Amino acid sequence: MNPASAPGSADLSDTSRQLELLVNSVTDYAIYMLDPHGVIRTWNRGGERIKGYQASEVIGTHFSRFYTAEEIDAGLPALNLSIAAANGRYAGEGWRLRKDGTQLRASVVIDPIFDGDQLIGYAKVTRDITERYEAEQRLQAAQHALMQAQKMEAIGKLTLGLAHDFNNLLTIVMNSLDLISTRVPDPRVQQLTDTAMRAAERGTLLTRQLLTFGRGNALVSEQLDVNALLRDSRELLNRSVGDTVAVSFDLGDGLPIVELDKNQFEAAVLNLVCNSRDAMPNGGSITISTRLCRARKPSESESPEEDFLSVEVRDTGEGIPYENQSRVFEPFFTTKEVGRGSGLGLSQVFGFAMQSGGFALLESQPGQGTSVRMLLPVENRAGK
Ligand SMILES: Nc1ncnc2c1ncn2[C@@H]1O[C@H](COP(=O)(O)OP(=O)(O)O)[C@@H](O)[C@H]1O
Ligand SMILES: [Mg+2]
Repeated sequence: MNPASAPGSADLSDTSRQLELLVNSVTDYAIYMLDPHGVIRTWNRGGERIKGYQASEVIGTHFSRFYTAEEIDAGLPALNLSIAAANGRYAGEGWRLRKDGTQLRASVVIDPIFDGDQLIGYAKVTRDITERYEAEQRLQAAQHALMQAQKMEAIGKLTLGLAHDFNNLLTIVMNSLDLISTRVPDPRVQQLTDTAMRAAERGTLLTRQLLTFGRGNALVSEQLDVNALLRDSRELLNRSVGDTVAVSFDLGDGLPIVELDKNQFEAAVLNLVCNSRDAMPNGGSITISTRLCRARKPSESESPEEDFLSVEVRDTGEGIPYENQSRVFEPFFTTKEVGRGSGLGLSQVFGFAMQSGGFALLESQPGQGTSVRMLLPVENRAGK
């Protein structure tokens, strides 16, 4: 069906002209032909529009120029052609490069063209699906954030109920221990009641942390200069991390005074710094930075962006495996051995940020480090 093989036929040459016009007027698809080695032979307006190259710039060059450097290193362009030749078609999706160096998400089909048994080239159709892809990614992220928020909400409720019950039980235990120790003057009994009392006090401390996570603790809000607070806690933080870890500050200028619970804020920063220290047994560095930023609460993807004060603790530690990243804020989630971790540090951070009217964000690259950010509202509406 090669039009050139029917010389003199006006109809056929018209057909080929029509075909050319058709291909060229398609602007949503890059439609072009490659020779058997992958050298570009034709180009259309869609190609110009999607990839940004004029025909004269690409014809005669190898089509691998549209692939990213990593894909070229991985031999993907040649592989895709050989798949097309062997299977009769290659269809796939991936990132491709535009002339200006930006990337587009491309849906790609490659069909081999045979003349009898002989492979004479490839027809390649590329569609720009960047917008759709990004919309899907946004939707997935929003769904994920919503699920995560619902999960934390459910765990929060459960925790709150448990913590209240335990608090009541511990109060009874402590009152009874008090009575025993006053009524039985035997020093051996005293020793036992002291031990039991310490354990009960520890239990109370734990339930208090749980209450924070479950947002059952009333916050005591006051006007705070976060930078000044952080500067004041420098020594305490340095002492907590030891000699092998360096703590540095990167505090933004002109930050507003915010309304927060001072004790909870300090506890949260200390929790984060201690986590970073634990993640760097061989030393490393921690950067605490403050900034003003605009963001949208993850659970409210539809609402407009608001101003937040971001307080970030970033480390160069071991990072968090991807499979743990959605769980670390849960109370009692810990990867540390018994006695070293309670699993309540990040849940305090999460609970405090939420209850203050903000949220907490985690970013971690296994092997590279971790950043936890508390986004605290500039105009505090906590509890209102
Ligand atoms: N900066 C960090 N680097 C690496 N892992 C971290 C970091 N912060 C938290 N984690 C992980 O999250 C888990 C939960 O942290 P947390 O709630 O503070 O509890 P804990 O420190 O008692 O284990 C930790 O056990 C650890 O696995
Ligand atoms: Mg911790």
